[in-house]
Amino acid sequence: MSEFAELSLGDKRIQLPVITGTENEKAIDIAKLRDETGYITIDSGYKNTGATKSGITFLDGELGILRYRGYSIEELADKASFLEVAYLLIYGELPTAEQYAAFEKEIRTHTIVNEDMRKIFDGFPVNAHPMGVLSAMVCAMSAFYTGEKAGSDELNIIRLLAKMPTVATWSYKKSQGHPVNYPKNSLDYCSNFLQMMFALPVEEYKVNPVVSSALNKLLILHADHEQNCSTSTVRLVGSSHASLYASISAGINALSGPLHGGANQEVIEMLEAIKADGGDTDKFIAMAKDKNSGFRLMGFGHRVYKNFDPRAKIIKKAAYEVLASLGVQDPVLDIAKKLEEAALSDPYFVQRRLYPNVDFYSGIIYRALGIPTNMFTVMFAIGRLPGWIAQWKEMRVNKEPIGRPRQVYVGATPRDYVPMEQR
Ligand code: CMC
Repeated sequence: MSEFAELSLGDKRIQLPVITGTENEKAIDIAKLRDETGYITIDSGYKNTGATKSGITFLDGELGILRYRGYSIEELADKASFLEVAYLLIYGELPTAEQYAAFEKEIRTHTIVNEDMRKIFDGFPVNAHPMGVLSAMVCAMSAFYTGEKAGSDELNIIRLLAKMPTVATWSYKKSQGHPVNYPKNSLDYCSNFLQMMFALPVEEYKVNPVVSSALNKLLILHADHEQNCSTSTVRLVGSSHASLYASISAGINALSGPLHGGANQEVIEMLEAIKADGGDTDKFIAMAKDKNSGFRLMGFGHRVYKNFDPRAKIIKKAAYEVLASLGVQDPVLDIAKKLEEAALSDPYFVQRRLYPNVDFYSGIIYRALGIPTNMFTVMFAIGRLPGWIAQWKEMRVNKEPIGRPRQVYVGATPRDYVPMEQR
């Protein structure tokens, strides 16, 4: 053992191996701790707990670095297509032209959603939240692709990537009470999504390249973020050897919460509320600082980024560019800017190192692209899908054991049952 940590517990001293990652990240390996000492560790919210060794995404929260398989997020967002990034995350390397063409073709041929599945959409109420519908439909795929139709993991990965935009747009169409649009497989991934979202029977839908390229960038920025809440959920569910669909459906549910992916919808709703209230950002900053108000500045703060979120930096710039090139004037952009400036100079936010996160500006772009607010988190889910798949695959390929944390029991000690009439 070259490097180790020493732990003393009473008269016992044990040595715990230190693991070093390729970016020199250090971890203390406690795998034998319980066997050797009878102790476990406790770490609420897993703030200091590494759940796995992973070769997919590296991030440094102090330096604001995010890389997928070694490639910087800035470069990928600028130069790559979303499917190229999906391939990189899932298969580990950027595709050659041939590999990319084959991958894209496979995806194009699996975009159709089974007609029996389409009927399930009819059972949802008209105002159902698209995230609930999306997770239910992805889970339903585990019922459709089973037995003879199960196919290999590789096929299910393609199916899921291909059908996700179809299911996502149909969940929105249903929430509007509109008929669904079928995929047009002559279109690329982002354009096909836009066509299914926005095409109306009355006229030919023309994809605006500014919109399609902004969408491509947004999806790349969301594509993976190592062991966050939804990804950890996907890995944990998958560790029981539940199907890919069941695991991803669980991830979608985890993402829906307002502290995670649901924040992008909450940001726009917050900015709208500030606008409707007269635009006094100081009032909302004061509320966010008051622990009794129950109000948080949505789109601020991050578990790992403590100086800036590199994705937020790219998205902020893109928000201005997209609004300018589409000629959209959005008053909430001014409010967002004012709020950001006020928060960044306020000691409460400075001391706690709370900076705008990926969700702060993404909603403003989505809105400019015509995406309705209740679809924002669905957009996050479409973007995050390749990351979830890559993490699920890595966990299975590495034959990771079933996830099963322990606990420290703090409940009642043994006592006798008391019959109901005597309680
Ligand atoms: N507004 C006001 N105060 C905040 C905020 C905020 N947005 N975020 C954190 N704080 C305070 C918090 O009250 C605590 O203060 P104190 O030390 O005095 O008790 C301190 O900052 C640390 O907060 P925490 O909740 O312990 O930090 P965490 O790492 O557990 O939570 C977070 C991270 C992202 C859940 C949290 O910052 C938050 O709720 N932000 C708003 C929701 C949001 O934007 N979420 C999207 C995250 S990025 C997309 C994604 O990957 O999911």
